[in-house]
Amino acid sequence: MSLISRDKTLIWHPFTQHRTAAEVIPIARGEGAYIYDETGKAYLDLISSWWVNLHGHSHPAIAQSIYEQAKKLEHVIFAGFTHEPAVTLCENLQTILPDTLNRFFFSDNGSTAVEVALKMAYQYWRNQGKEKKTSFLSFDGAYHGDTFGAMSVGKKSGFHTAFDDFLFHVLTIPYPETWQDDHCLLEKEAHALSVLDRHLEESAETIAAFIAEPLVQGASGMRMCRPEFLRQVIDKVRAHGVLVIFDEIMTGFGRTGTTFALEHVDRTPDFLCISKGITGGFLPLALTITTDTVYQAFLSDSWDKAFAHGHSYTANPLACAAAITSLDLLRAPECQKAIAAIAKAQTQGLETLKGVSRIRQQGTIAAFDLAEPATPALRQQFLNQGLLIRPLGKTVYLLPPYCVSPAEIGKAFSIIMDIVTT
Ligand SMILES: Cc1ncc(COP(=O)(O)O)c(C=O)c1O
Repeated sequence: MSLISRDKTLIWHPFTQHRTAAEVIPIARGEGAYIYDETGKAYLDLISSWWVNLHGHSHPAIAQSIYEQAKKLEHVIFAGFTHEPAVTLCENLQTILPDTLNRFFFSDNGSTAVEVALKMAYQYWRNQGKEKKTSFLSFDGAYHGDTFGAMSVGKKSGFHTAFDDFLFHVLTIPYPETWQDDHCLLEKEAHALSVLDRHLEESAETIAAFIAEPLVQGASGMRMCRPEFLRQVIDKVRAHGVLVIFDEIMTGFGRTGTTFALEHVDRTPDFLCISKGITGGFLPLALTITTDTVYQAFLSDSWDKAFAHGHSYTANPLACAAAITSLDLLRAPECQKAIAAIAKAQTQGLETLKGVSRIRQQGTIAAFDLAEPATPALRQQFLNQGLLIRPLGKTVYLLPPYCVSPAEIGKAFSIIMDIVTT
Protein backbone atom coordinates (compact mmCIF):
# COMPACT_ATOMS: atom_id res chain seq x y z
CA MET A 1 0.00 0.00 0.00
CA SER A 2 1.29 3.49 -0.81
CA LEU A 3 2.11 5.91 1.98
CA ILE A 4 -0.81 8.08 0.87
CA SER A 5 -3.25 5.16 1.24
CA ARG A 6 -1.79 4.15 4.61
CA ASP A 7 -2.08 7.77 5.75
CA LYS A 8 -5.66 7.99 4.50
CA THR A 9 -6.82 5.02 6.55
CA LEU A 10 -5.33 6.34 9.79
CA ILE A 11 -4.51 9.98 10.04
CA TRP A 12 -6.62 13.04 10.81
CA HIS A 13 -4.65 16.07 9.66
CA PRO A 14 -4.72 19.56 11.22
CA PHE A 15 -6.83 22.35 9.71
CA THR A 16 -8.14 19.94 7.07
CA GLN A 17 -11.62 19.21 5.72
CA HIS A 18 -10.91 15.65 4.69
CA ARG A 19 -13.90 15.36 2.39
CA THR A 20 -12.67 18.06 0.03
CA ALA A 21 -8.94 18.33 0.73
CA ALA A 22 -6.40 17.46 -1.93
CA GLU A 23 -4.33 14.33 -1.34
CA VAL A 24 -1.48 14.74 1.11
CA ILE A 25 2.02 14.83 -0.36
CA PRO A 26 4.41 12.33 1.22
CA ILE A 27 7.65 14.14 2.00
CA ALA A 28 10.78 12.03 2.20
CA ARG A 29 13.42 14.58 3.15
CA GLY A 30 14.29 18.24 3.48
CA GLU A 31 17.46 20.15 2.78
CA GLY A 32 18.02 23.89 2.84
CA ALA A 33 15.00 25.77 1.56
CA TYR A 34 13.57 22.65 -0.15
CA ILE A 35 11.53 19.64 0.81
CA TYR A 36 11.48 16.58 -1.47
CA ASP A 37 8.62 14.17 -2.04
CA GLU A 38 9.00 10.43 -2.48
CA THR A 39 9.55 10.77 -6.22
CA GLY A 40 12.33 13.32 -5.66
CA LYS A 41 10.24 16.33 -6.73
CA ALA A 42 11.48 19.47 -4.94
CA TYR A 43 9.26 22.13 -3.37
CA LEU A 44 10.69 25.49 -2.37
CA ASP A 45 9.33 26.00 1.14
CA LEU A 46 8.21 29.61 0.90
CA ILE A 47 6.20 29.44 4.12
CA SER A 48 8.90 27.87 6.29
CA SER A 49 6.54 24.96 7.00
CA TRP A 50 3.96 26.92 8.99
CA TRP A 51 6.50 29.60 9.91
CA VAL A 52 8.78 27.43 12.03
CA ASN A 53 11.77 26.76 9.82
CA LEU A 54 14.35 29.55 10.14
CA HIS A 55 17.59 28.24 8.69
CA GLY A 56 16.49 25.61 6.22
CA HIS A 57 15.47 22.00 6.61
CA SER A 58 17.66 19.46 8.41
CA HIS A 59 20.28 22.07 9.21
CA PRO A 60 23.38 20.02 10.13
CA ALA A 61 24.47 22.21 13.07
CA ILE A 62 21.07 21.96 14.76
CA ALA A 63 20.84 18.23 14.02
CA GLN A 64 24.29 17.75 15.58
CA SER A 65 23.39 19.69 18.73
CA ILE A 66 20.29 17.55 19.24
CA TYR A 67 22.36 14.39 18.74
CA GLU A 68 25.02 15.52 21.22
CA GLN A 69 22.38 16.48 23.79
CA ALA A 70 20.49 13.19 23.30
CA LYS A 71 23.60 11.28 24.33
CA LYS A 72 23.73 13.22 27.63
CA LEU A 73 20.16 13.90 28.75
CA GLU A 74 17.05 13.55 26.62
CA HIS A 75 14.55 14.80 29.20
CA VAL A 76 14.02 15.44 32.88
CA ILE A 77 11.05 16.64 34.89
CA PHE A 78 11.36 20.45 35.12
CA ALA A 79 9.63 20.90 38.49
CA GLY A 80 12.34 20.68 41.11
CA PHE A 81 15.11 20.10 38.53
CA THR A 82 16.96 22.16 35.97
CA HIS A 83 19.58 21.58 33.28
CA GLU A 84 22.30 23.38 31.36
CA PRO A 85 20.50 23.79 27.98
CA ALA A 86 17.45 25.48 29.58
CA VAL A 87 19.51 27.97 31.59
CA THR A 88 21.92 28.70 28.73
CA LEU A 89 19.05 29.29 26.32
CA CYS A 90 17.43 31.80 28.67
CA GLU A 91 20.77 33.54 29.30
CA ASN A 92 21.35 33.81 25.54
CA LEU A 93 17.83 35.10 24.91
CA GLN A 94 18.30 37.66 27.63
CA THR A 95 21.14 39.24 25.67
CA ILE A 96 18.77 40.06 22.79
CA LEU A 97 15.69 41.02 24.81
CA PRO A 98 14.83 44.21 26.70
CA ASP A 99 16.30 44.04 30.24
CA THR A 100 12.91 44.00 31.94
CA LEU A 101 11.90 40.73 30.25
CA ASN A 102 13.85 38.51 32.58
CA ARG A 103 11.60 35.68 33.86
CA PHE A 104 11.26 32.72 31.52
CA PHE A 105 8.43 30.16 31.68
CA PHE A 106 8.71 27.19 29.32
CA SER A 107 5.95 25.33 27.49
CA ASP A 108 5.86 23.54 24.17
CA ASN A 109 3.84 25.31 21.49
CA GLY A 110 2.50 28.71 20.56
CA SER A 111 -0.99 28.17 21.97
CA THR A 112 0.37 27.15 25.36
CA ALA A 113 2.74 30.14 25.42
CA VAL A 114 -0.34 32.37 24.98
CA GLU A 115 -2.37 30.34 27.47
CA VAL A 116 0.37 30.81 30.05
CA ALA A 117 0.51 34.59 29.46
CA LEU A 118 -3.28 34.89 29.83
CA LYS A 119 -3.35 32.80 32.98
CA MET A 120 -0.38 34.66 34.49
CA ALA A 121 -1.94 38.05 33.72
CA TYR A 122 -5.24 36.98 35.29
CA GLN A 123 -3.60 35.52 38.37
CA TYR A 124 -1.22 38.48 38.71
CA TRP A 125 -4.21 40.69 39.47
CA ARG A 126 -5.99 38.05 41.54
CA ASN A 127 -2.92 37.54 43.72
CA GLN A 128 -3.11 41.26 44.56
CA GLY A 129 -6.80 41.17 45.42
CA LYS A 130 -7.90 42.77 42.15
CA GLU A 131 -10.44 40.10 41.39
CA LYS A 132 -12.51 42.22 39.03
CA LYS A 133 -9.79 42.09 36.39
CA THR A 134 -11.07 39.04 34.57
CA SER A 135 -11.46 40.06 30.93
CA PHE A 136 -9.05 40.67 28.08
CA LEU A 137 -8.68 43.05 25.17
CA SER A 138 -7.56 41.98 21.70
CA PHE A 139 -7.77 42.98 18.05
CA ASP A 140 -10.41 41.88 15.57
CA GLY A 141 -8.84 39.27 13.35
CA ALA A 142 -6.22 38.22 15.92
CA TYR A 143 -5.20 34.57 15.94
CA HIS A 144 -3.42 33.33 19.05
CA GLY A 145 -3.80 29.54 18.85
CA ASP A 146 -6.33 26.77 19.32
CA THR A 147 -6.58 26.15 23.07
CA PHE A 148 -9.56 27.71 24.85
CA GLY A 149 -7.88 30.81 26.24
CA ALA A 150 -6.04 31.44 22.98
CA MET A 151 -9.29 30.91 21.05
CA SER A 152 -11.10 33.36 23.32
CA VAL A 153 -8.68 36.21 22.63
CA GLY A 154 -8.79 35.22 18.94
CA LYS A 155 -12.56 34.87 18.78
CA LYS A 156 -12.85 37.43 15.96
CA SER A 157 -10.39 35.51 13.77
CA GLY A 158 -13.16 33.42 12.24
CA PHE A 159 -11.22 30.21 13.00
CA HIS A 160 -13.12 29.14 16.10
CA THR A 161 -16.79 29.81 15.47
CA ALA A 162 -17.81 26.24 16.42
CA PHE A 163 -16.64 27.00 19.97
CA ASP A 164 -18.05 30.50 20.37
CA ASP A 165 -20.34 29.55 23.25
CA PHE A 166 -17.42 28.25 25.31
CA LEU A 167 -15.13 31.25 24.96
CA PHE A 168 -14.60 33.71 27.80
CA HIS A 169 -15.33 37.43 27.74
CA VAL A 170 -13.04 39.48 25.52
CA LEU A 171 -13.38 43.05 24.25
CA THR A 172 -12.02 43.68 20.78
CA ILE A 173 -10.92 46.71 18.84
CA PRO A 174 -10.82 47.11 15.05
CA TYR A 175 -7.49 46.34 13.44
CA PRO A 176 -6.39 49.08 11.02
CA GLU A 177 -4.62 46.87 8.52
CA THR A 178 -2.70 48.75 5.88
CA TRP A 179 -0.92 48.24 2.56
CA GLN A 180 0.87 50.19 -0.18
CA ASP A 181 -1.07 53.25 -1.34
CA ASP A 182 -3.65 52.90 1.40
CA HIS A 183 -5.47 56.24 1.49
CA CYS A 184 -7.76 55.52 4.43
CA LEU A 185 -5.12 54.54 6.96
CA LEU A 186 -5.45 57.48 9.31
CA GLU A 187 -9.25 57.20 9.41
CA LYS A 188 -9.02 53.48 10.20
CA GLU A 189 -6.49 54.12 12.97
CA ALA A 190 -8.55 56.97 14.43
CA HIS A 191 -11.63 54.72 14.47
CA ALA A 192 -9.73 51.90 16.20
CA LEU A 193 -8.38 54.32 18.81
CA SER A 194 -11.83 55.74 19.49
CA VAL A 195 -13.23 52.23 20.09
CA LEU A 196 -10.27 51.56 22.38
CA ASP A 197 -10.92 54.78 24.32
CA ARG A 198 -14.54 53.78 24.81
CA HIS A 199 -13.61 50.31 26.09
CA LEU A 200 -11.03 51.76 28.45
CA GLU A 201 -13.39 54.38 29.81
CA GLU A 202 -16.16 51.85 30.39
CA SER A 203 -14.23 48.74 31.39
CA ALA A 204 -10.56 49.36 32.23
CA GLU A 205 -10.97 48.15 35.81
CA THR A 206 -12.16 44.75 34.54
CA ILE A 207 -9.44 44.23 31.90
CA ALA A 208 -6.47 42.11 32.95
CA ALA A 209 -4.42 42.43 29.77
CA PHE A 210 -4.29 43.48 26.15
CA ILE A 211 -2.86 40.96 23.67
CA ALA A 212 -1.60 41.56 20.14
CA GLU A 213 0.47 40.02 17.38
CA PRO A 214 2.76 43.03 16.95
CA LEU A 215 2.76 44.54 13.45
CA VAL A 216 1.57 41.46 11.55
CA GLN A 217 -1.55 39.37 12.14
CA GLY A 218 -0.43 36.07 10.65
CA ALA A 219 -3.26 33.61 10.27
CA SER A 220 -5.88 36.18 9.41
CA GLY A 221 -3.93 36.99 6.25
CA MET A 222 -0.58 38.67 7.00
CA ARG A 223 -2.45 41.84 7.93
CA MET A 224 -0.04 44.61 8.81
CA CYS A 225 -0.39 47.73 10.95
CA ARG A 226 1.93 50.66 11.64
CA PRO A 227 4.22 50.61 14.67
CA GLU A 228 3.14 54.20 15.44
CA PHE A 229 -0.43 53.01 15.81
CA LEU A 230 0.43 50.07 18.04
CA ARG A 231 2.58 52.34 20.20
CA GLN A 232 -0.43 54.58 20.83
CA VAL A 233 -2.57 51.58 21.75
CA ILE A 234 0.01 50.36 24.23
CA ASP A 235 0.45 53.75 25.82
CA LYS A 236 -3.31 54.08 26.24
CA VAL A 237 -3.89 50.64 27.76
CA ARG A 238 -0.89 51.03 30.08
CA ALA A 239 -2.21 54.38 31.28
CA HIS A 240 -5.36 52.51 32.35
CA GLY A 241 -3.53 49.81 34.32
CA VAL A 242 -3.85 47.07 31.71
CA LEU A 243 -0.97 44.62 31.17
CA VAL A 244 0.42 44.08 27.66
CA ILE A 245 1.05 40.70 26.02
CA PHE A 246 2.96 40.49 22.74
CA ASP A 247 2.39 37.28 20.83
CA GLU A 248 5.57 37.08 18.75
CA ILE A 249 5.05 33.43 17.95
CA MET A 250 5.07 34.22 14.24
CA THR A 251 6.87 37.60 14.17
CA GLY A 252 9.82 36.60 16.38
CA PHE A 253 13.34 35.60 15.35
CA GLY A 254 13.93 38.04 12.52
CA ARG A 255 10.69 37.75 10.58
CA THR A 256 9.87 41.44 10.62
CA GLY A 257 13.45 42.52 9.88
CA THR A 258 14.44 42.99 13.54
CA THR A 259 14.96 40.13 15.97
CA PHE A 260 11.58 40.83 17.56
CA ALA A 261 8.80 43.08 16.28
CA LEU A 262 8.78 44.88 19.64
CA GLU A 263 11.91 46.69 18.47
CA HIS A 264 9.89 48.45 15.72
CA VAL A 265 7.15 49.27 18.19
CA ASP A 266 9.68 50.57 20.70
CA ARG A 267 7.64 49.34 23.63
CA THR A 268 8.37 46.43 25.96
CA PRO A 269 5.40 44.24 26.85
CA ASP A 270 4.75 42.66 30.25
CA PHE A 271 4.66 39.26 28.56
CA LEU A 272 6.36 38.07 25.40
CA CYS A 273 5.23 34.77 23.86
CA ILE A 274 7.67 33.01 21.52
CA SER A 275 7.68 29.61 19.86
CA LYS A 276 7.66 28.45 16.18
CA GLY A 277 11.11 29.61 14.97
CA ILE A 278 12.71 29.15 18.39
CA THR A 279 14.21 25.73 17.55
CA GLY A 280 14.66 26.52 13.87
CA GLY A 281 11.75 24.19 13.16
CA PHE A 282 13.28 21.05 14.72
CA LEU A 283 11.34 20.45 17.94
CA PRO A 284 8.34 21.91 19.77
CA LEU A 285 9.27 24.53 22.36
CA ALA A 286 7.79 27.78 23.63
CA LEU A 287 8.50 30.46 26.16
CA THR A 288 6.38 33.05 27.94
CA ILE A 289 8.80 35.69 29.12
CA THR A 290 7.72 38.19 31.73
CA THR A 291 9.01 40.78 34.16
CA ASP A 292 10.27 40.53 37.69
CA THR A 293 7.28 42.60 38.81
CA VAL A 294 4.92 39.88 37.57
CA TYR A 295 7.09 37.13 39.03
CA GLN A 296 7.18 38.77 42.46
CA ALA A 297 3.36 38.83 42.61
CA PHE A 298 3.38 35.01 42.69
CA LEU A 299 5.80 34.71 45.62
CA SER A 300 4.08 33.80 48.86
CA ASP A 301 4.11 31.30 51.69
CA SER A 302 0.79 30.16 50.33
CA TRP A 303 0.57 27.61 47.50
CA ASP A 304 -2.57 29.38 46.29
CA LYS A 305 -0.47 32.19 44.86
CA ALA A 306 1.87 29.90 42.90
CA PHE A 307 1.45 29.54 39.16
CA ALA A 308 0.02 26.01 39.01
CA HIS A 309 0.73 25.26 35.38
CA GLY A 310 3.14 22.88 33.64
CA HIS A 311 3.53 20.47 30.74
CA SER A 312 5.26 17.10 30.67
CA TYR A 313 7.78 18.20 28.07
CA THR A 314 8.45 21.60 29.65
CA ALA A 315 11.98 22.79 28.74
CA ASN A 316 12.83 19.57 26.95
CA PRO A 317 16.65 19.50 26.81
CA LEU A 318 16.79 18.40 23.16
CA ALA A 319 14.53 21.29 22.16
CA CYS A 320 16.59 23.71 24.27
CA ALA A 321 19.81 22.47 22.64
CA ALA A 322 18.26 23.00 19.19
CA ALA A 323 17.13 26.48 20.23
CA ILE A 324 20.60 27.48 21.47
CA THR A 325 22.12 26.53 18.12
CA SER A 326 19.31 28.12 16.13
CA LEU A 327 19.81 31.38 18.03
CA ASP A 328 23.58 31.24 17.40
CA LEU A 329 22.88 30.81 13.68
CA LEU A 330 20.41 33.70 13.74
CA ARG A 331 22.85 36.04 15.45
CA ALA A 332 25.67 35.27 13.00
CA PRO A 333 26.43 38.21 10.66
CA GLU A 334 25.78 36.00 7.58
CA CYS A 335 22.22 35.32 8.73
CA GLN A 336 21.58 38.98 9.47
CA LYS A 337 22.84 39.81 5.97
CA ALA A 338 20.63 37.09 4.50
CA ILE A 339 17.56 38.52 6.27
CA ALA A 340 18.26 41.96 4.79
CA ALA A 341 18.84 40.43 1.33
CA ILE A 342 15.58 38.47 1.50
CA ALA A 343 13.67 41.59 2.53
CA LYS A 344 15.16 43.45 -0.45
CA ALA A 345 14.37 40.61 -2.86
CA GLN A 346 10.80 40.51 -1.55
CA THR A 347 10.46 44.29 -2.14
CA GLN A 348 11.73 43.85 -5.68
CA GLY A 349 9.44 40.87 -6.26
CA LEU A 350 6.40 42.79 -5.04
CA GLU A 351 7.26 45.61 -7.45
CA THR A 352 6.86 43.21 -10.39
CA LEU A 353 3.28 42.31 -9.46
CA LYS A 354 0.38 43.49 -11.59
CA GLY A 355 -3.37 43.10 -11.21
CA VAL A 356 -3.22 42.27 -7.49
CA SER A 357 -4.15 44.43 -4.51
CA ARG A 358 -3.12 45.35 -0.97
CA ILE A 359 0.58 44.81 -1.55
CA ARG A 360 2.40 44.80 1.78
CA GLN A 361 5.66 43.84 3.39
CA GLN A 362 7.28 43.76 6.79
CA GLY A 363 10.88 42.52 6.73
CA THR A 364 10.98 39.00 5.29
CA ILE A 365 7.17 38.74 5.14
CA ALA A 366 5.63 39.76 1.79
CA ALA A 367 1.94 39.53 0.91
CA PHE A 368 -0.70 40.63 -1.58
CA ASP A 369 -4.35 39.90 -2.23
CA LEU A 370 -6.13 38.29 -5.14
CA ALA A 371 -9.59 39.36 -6.22
CA GLU A 372 -11.10 36.08 -4.96
CA PRO A 373 -10.08 33.45 -2.40
CA ALA A 374 -7.48 31.05 -3.79
CA THR A 375 -9.15 28.03 -5.37
CA PRO A 376 -7.94 24.44 -4.89
CA ALA A 377 -6.83 24.55 -8.55
CA LEU A 378 -4.68 27.62 -7.93
CA ARG A 379 -3.14 26.03 -4.86
CA GLN A 380 -2.37 22.94 -6.91
CA GLN A 381 -0.67 25.03 -9.58
CA PHE A 382 1.78 26.44 -7.03
CA LEU A 383 2.63 22.89 -5.97
CA ASN A 384 2.91 21.69 -9.57
CA GLN A 385 5.46 24.44 -10.13
CA GLY A 386 7.45 23.31 -7.09
CA LEU A 387 6.40 26.13 -4.74
CA LEU A 388 5.13 25.42 -1.24
CA ILE A 389 2.73 28.33 -0.78
CA ARG A 390 -0.52 28.16 1.22
CA PRO A 391 -2.71 31.18 0.51
CA LEU A 392 -4.84 32.41 3.41
CA GLY A 393 -8.17 33.12 1.73
CA LYS A 394 -7.42 35.80 -0.87
CA THR A 395 -3.94 36.43 0.49
CA VAL A 396 -0.84 35.01 -1.11
CA TYR A 397 2.23 35.44 1.09
CA LEU A 398 5.87 34.47 1.29
CA LEU A 399 7.64 33.85 4.59
CA PRO A 400 10.75 31.90 3.58
CA PRO A 401 13.59 30.34 5.57
CA TYR A 402 16.67 32.56 5.80
CA CYS A 403 18.77 30.25 3.62
CA VAL A 404 16.69 31.04 0.52
CA SER A 405 18.61 33.08 -2.06
CA PRO A 406 17.42 36.39 -3.54
CA ALA A 407 17.52 34.68 -6.95
CA GLU A 408 15.15 31.96 -5.72
CA ILE A 409 12.79 34.65 -4.39
CA GLY A 410 12.93 36.47 -7.73
CA LYS A 411 12.17 33.28 -9.64
CA ALA A 412 9.34 32.41 -7.28
CA PHE A 413 7.73 35.82 -7.85
CA SER A 414 7.83 35.38 -11.61
CA ILE A 415 6.22 31.91 -11.33
CA ILE A 416 3.58 33.27 -8.93
CA MET A 417 2.84 36.14 -11.31
CA ASP A 418 2.40 33.71 -14.23
CA ILE A 419 0.05 31.55 -12.17
CA VAL A 420 -2.14 34.30 -10.73
CA THR A 421 -2.53 36.14 -14.01
CA THR A 422 -3.47 33.15 -16.21
C1 LIG B 1 0.60 34.55 16.30
C2 LIG B 1 0.34 33.12 16.66
N1 LIG B 1 0.08 32.80 17.94
C3 LIG B 1 -0.14 31.55 18.32
C4 LIG B 1 -0.10 30.52 17.42
C5 LIG B 1 -0.33 29.11 17.86
O1 LIG B 1 0.86 28.37 17.79
P1 LIG B 1 0.82 26.78 17.77
O2 LIG B 1 0.26 26.40 16.44
O3 LIG B 1 2.26 26.38 17.93
O4 LIG B 1 -0.03 26.34 18.91
C6 LIG B 1 0.16 30.79 16.08
C7 LIG B 1 0.16 29.73 15.08
O5 LIG B 1 0.08 29.94 13.90
C8 LIG B 1 0.39 32.13 15.68
O6 LIG B 1 0.64 32.47 14.43
